[in-house]
Amino acid sequence: MNALRYETDVDGLLTLTIDRPDTLNALDAEVVGDLDDAFRRARTDDDVRGVLLTGAGEKAFVAGADISQFPDLGAAEARRFAERGQAVFSQIEQMPKPVAAAVNGVALGGGCELALACHLRTASPGVQLGQPEVHLGIIPGYGGTQRLPRVVGRGAATEMILTGDPVGAERAREIGLVNRVAEDATEAARELLRSILENGPEAIRLSLQALRASDQPLETGLRHEAALFGQALATDDATEGATAFLEKREPEFQGR
Ligand code: COA
Repeated sequence: MNALRYETDVDGLLTLTIDRPDTLNALDAEVVGDLDDAFRRARTDDDVRGVLLTGAGEKAFVAGADISQFPDLGAAEARRFAERGQAVFSQIEQMPKPVAAAVNGVALGGGCELALACHLRTASPGVQLGQPEVHLGIIPGYGGTQRLPRVVGRGAATEMILTGDPVGAERAREIGLVNRVAEDATEAARELLRSILENGPEAIRLSLQALRASDQPLETGLRHEAALFGQALATDDATEGATAFLEKREPEFQGR
């Protein structure tokens, strides 16, 4: 992986850093391929319990898809281009381990869509997030028209996508686009992940699965929740959680 760094620490936190400084970490086919490989590996890597995704340098998380790819694309190729990125981003969203984006610089176009595919987002105070595609005569193609309204609501998403104007970190927090704004977005994401990892991995995995079902009609989502609740109660971690509470001690989850 040339444009993506894969670094694990002793606590089970994987830091993935997109590193293409010449283009402000823009996503070309190589980076998309590296993200695909890295998340496949992280899914089954027992040393990884949570993932922090960020961009190298101080200026950009990701400045979008690499615009130099666009002029040569015909309609069919462009559709395949979008489908490839969407598949990789869906893989990120479907990770059974928590994934947080540390938006340490601009997150525009594909960068905003990449952050949206993560489960949680933190941002540094000065950053801008947005879907500026209409300024280029195109529309978001890596999931922006679908995930942005699911995260911030249709009204705010419609404004962002139709004007193409980005929002600052504070506005992003107000509309729920980022969870936290902190001087050091990476450290804030790390803290958030660490607090999540104090909980049992099975409970986290099942929670993420249940949350994904919130895209479906309420009755369907509720059926999923009940089934997953059943699975959660059948784990050793559930027995340990209740026993530890009754014995007034901290639980020791085993992840089974
Ligand atoms: N694709 C390809 N190259 C990009 C890029 C992208 N999405 N975003 C930035 N770059 C390149 C620039 O072309 C420039 O290259 P150069 O040094 O060879 O000229 C370099 O990164 C630095 O960008 P620059 O525009 O000079 O920096 P800036 O600080 O003036 O502006 C941005 C920063 C992010 C506001 C500006 O680069 C920008 O608007 N980028 C495009 C954002 C976008 O529309 N993304 C959606 C794509 S669908």
